[in-house]
Amino acid sequence: MSEHALTTVVPDRIWSLERPVWFGGVRLRARTTVVRLDDGSLLLHTPSPPTDAVAEELDALGPVRWLVVPNRWHHLGAPAAAARFREATLVGPASALRRNRELRLDLELDAGELGERVPELEALPLEGVPFWDETVFYHRPTRTLLGADLVCSAGARDHWTWRFGARVTGCYERVRLPPDARRKLPDKPAAARSLREMLRRPAERLVIGHGDIIEADWREHLTQAWRLEGVEV
Ligand SMILES: [Fe+2]
Repeated sequence: MSEHALTTVVPDRIWSLERPVWFGGVRLRARTTVVRLDDGSLLLHTPSPPTDAVAEELDALGPVRWLVVPNRWHHLGAPAAAARFREATLVGPASALRRNRELRLDLELDAGELGERVPELEALPLEGVPFWDETVFYHRPTRTLLGADLVCSAGARDHWTWRFGARVTGCYERVRLPPDARRKLPDKPAAARSLREMLRRPAERLVIGHGDIIEADWREHLTQAWRLEGVEV
């Protein structure tokens, strides 16, 4: 791990940390997003298992108070992060518990309490896709949407396995739904309603779990990606 593993997304407020994750025979980049909240504490979205170097960088930024598992897949690093940041509250969907026996949630995402306790963060559930059970968050102070799997893309920085896989599945330098989810959209009208809620937010960027952060043109990319799967946003 380099001396500075975190890269700045929004100065003093949001940082990104990428690590390689093998999934379905390809090596993806998986992102942890660090948000400094109004009270100076840190929220880790999709926490990774913290190396000493990363933990030191985080300690220098502020106390980690929130660990957020945003869907039923992004739980892999959460138990290790919870062990390292013992004062943090771990929040996630109950559906993630069934996938990871090590996971212990302090708060269920479905209860909506996170929004009450962190008012600057708005929870926007992505309905209609139980395969993910994902909640997207809108961080008002930085006008940032924090997503996980709702779209992805690959590019030159990716490992050859995913560059190849992405070309085959139409995700190379293009924002698309992850290939494994495209046939698992049982309620497209519900997904469309949820996506419209996201599109209404005055966000300046969409952070995703796998791929480069999508900047000002995120609305077009998000809309196109879902329309390709028959979801009329
Ligand atoms: Fe993912």
